[in-house]
Amino acid sequence: MTVTAKQLDAYWMPFTPNRDFKQKPRIITAASGHHYTTDSGAQVYDMFAGLWTCGVGHCHPKIVEAVQKQVAKLDYAMAFQLSNNLSFELAERVVDMAPDGFTQCFFTNSGSESVDTALKIALGFHRARGEGNRTRLIGRERAYHGVNFGGMSVGGIVPNRKIFSANLIPGVDHIRATMDLQHTAFTRGQPEWGAHLADDLERLAALHDGSNIAAVIVEPVAGSTGILPPPVGYLERLREICDTHGILLIFDEVITAFGRLGKPFAADYFGVLPDIITTAKGLTNGVIPMGAVIVRDHVYDAFMHGPDKMIELFHGYTYSGHPVAAAAGLATMDIYKEEGTFEQATALAQPFEDLLHSFADHDKVIDVRNIGLMGAIELAPRDGAPGARGTEMHKRCFWEENLIIRNGMDILQFSPFLNSNIDDWNKSFDSVRRLLDSID
Ligand SMILES: Cc1ncc(COP(=O)(O)O)c(C=O)c1O
Repeated sequence: MTVTAKQLDAYWMPFTPNRDFKQKPRIITAASGHHYTTDSGAQVYDMFAGLWTCGVGHCHPKIVEAVQKQVAKLDYAMAFQLSNNLSFELAERVVDMAPDGFTQCFFTNSGSESVDTALKIALGFHRARGEGNRTRLIGRERAYHGVNFGGMSVGGIVPNRKIFSANLIPGVDHIRATMDLQHTAFTRGQPEWGAHLADDLERLAALHDGSNIAAVIVEPVAGSTGILPPPVGYLERLREICDTHGILLIFDEVITAFGRLGKPFAADYFGVLPDIITTAKGLTNGVIPMGAVIVRDHVYDAFMHGPDKMIELFHGYTYSGHPVAAAAGLATMDIYKEEGTFEQATALAQPFEDLLHSFADHDKVIDVRNIGLMGAIELAPRDGAPGARGTEMHKRCFWEENLIIRNGMDILQFSPFLNSNIDDWNKSFDSVRRLLDSID
């Protein structure tokens, strides 16, 4: 092992059962293309593309070169009242790729920061237009919007919220989650059932009066809570209700942006236009931390009316638009275009769906869900030990099959590379089946 006991002890790992992990650590020392190298020299196939991050594969030579060159040329430039040329270049590229009408982009360093930035922009937007009473924010149950206080408050994951319950930001409500296995189990793509769940927003608008609501934030496809594709007509209905009440619609596309559904954005895939889009991950292929909040012209314009020597939005990060991250982002945008990454992802969606649904009749499987290159196989929990079966699958895939899959409790999640080879998938799903057959 490359890591000493003292080093292991020193690192408090995120979203990880530290004591369990440190008994038998899974440590990666290198990566190339679609594989990791572990500290014992094993080659492990990455069926999660990093953490939904590395769509075009690890250590893509073009991104590596761009980062190496940039770090030697301009390491950092002050981000406030000054900036670097690459941040502007990348902003242009991102808004050009975004759906029509998206005209500005605010840089952050993560998905969590993008979400909190978007919520602040929404509140500032209404205030700038003389509707400072619009302060309520609406999230959804089973949503993940990162771990900062805003994102956690609009998020809908109980363990993430539990110990901070009294400190969540005030004035937040949640609409219902979009999935109910009774109606949706084993659906390929979007379920036909469930558009009516968007009407929950009407209920909240009636309760609080819509004129008090600033924004609704949803993941177009909930990712971290186990791949919940939106019911047919659901996002359209949310858009309509938002329009009726003057509420901003925010799509949290930290996972879905940049090709995971075979389109630049989920907004393109579903043909529904939000007012604000949050991104991160695929913006730089995960190489350097960076996020972006992309807004439509009416959102930006609302801020641009005060005295022109005044800061319009008192918000920003030391590393907003960091030049090395921006270089990684620009190289990533080039690759998406030159290699036809989104078209590759589109072509792979059907074989991916077929492989996932080949588990539908397995006796330990209670649901299979998929859309684009996001997929989940939900296992029946063991009696009295929810999550144990999923966790065992994750660990044994790594140790016995040289395969990374992710589990959220008993939901096995798959986020393959946008440029995957189907042979690798065949092998990987054979591994999953072998283990699923053999575990309790
Ligand atoms: C939809 C969504 N929003 C926000 C985040 C938080 O991103 P980060 O971990 O970069 O802060 C994630 C992370 O997976 C996410 O999936």
